[in-house]
Amino acid sequence: MFLSVWAQDKNGLIGKDGLLPWRLPNDMKFFQSHTLNSIVAMGRKTYEGMDYRSEKYRHILVLTQQKGLTVQANAEVISSISELVEYEKQVDEDIYISGGTRIFKEMLPYTSVIWRTLIDAEFSGDTYIGEIDFSEFELVEEIEGLVDEVNHYPHVFQKWVRKAEFPIRTV
Ligand SMILES: NC(=O)c1ccc[n+]([C@@H]2O[C@H](COP(=O)([O-])OP(=O)(O)OC[C@H]3O[C@@H](n4cnc5c(N)ncnc54)[C@H](OP(=O)(O)O)[C@@H]3O)[C@@H](O)[C@H]2O)c1
Repeated sequence: MFLSVWAQDKNGLIGKDGLLPWRLPNDMKFFQSHTLNSIVAMGRKTYEGMDYRSEKYRHILVLTQQKGLTVQANAEVISSISELVEYEKQVDEDIYISGGTRIFKEMLPYTSVIWRTLIDAEFSGDTYIGEIDFSEFELVEEIEGLVDEVNHYPHVFQKWVRKAEFPIRTV
């Protein structure tokens, strides 16, 4: 199945200059605990923003319409949402959708679970999550993150699960 995972500030901001707008080690740990040993799918800009940090992930599917984009040995190029949906049918494991904006939105009909970190602060940046329709999902878990000397901003980890009456799209 597909699971989406993102963090946003109070205004829905998710990115700045190709990177995250904040430093919140708790959230990075949370993200990596789900994704490091999994298959993750992300847009070309998010992938490029990760730079050498992408190397520690087991497998990355990079969405791009560019022909001949060079990626690291642990990554492969995917050219459309339909190709990604077909890929998932061939592998017997979960795929984590890791942004950015367009992929979160376009993958929503295929997504079973959303992990959303809500950061109770306001940052500046250039990339927003935009309109995400949660009506087909139910909030089943909300866990408060720890605020301490390295995690300065209050944050909660939310888990949203697709309601049974709204089956996922498969094609
Ligand atoms: N806070 C978070 O949880 C979070 C999560 C993810 C990303 N981010 C941040 O968000 C920013 C990047 O996000 P973004 O939305 O600007 O860009 P992005 O989604 O990472 O990359 C956009 C690119 O992905 C490719 N793409 C997207 N949809 C596609 C599709 N349906 N088919 C084929 N290719 C597709 C295109 O690549 P080509 O132009 O090469 O064709 C497009 O230009 C960064 O700052 C990043 O750090 C934050």
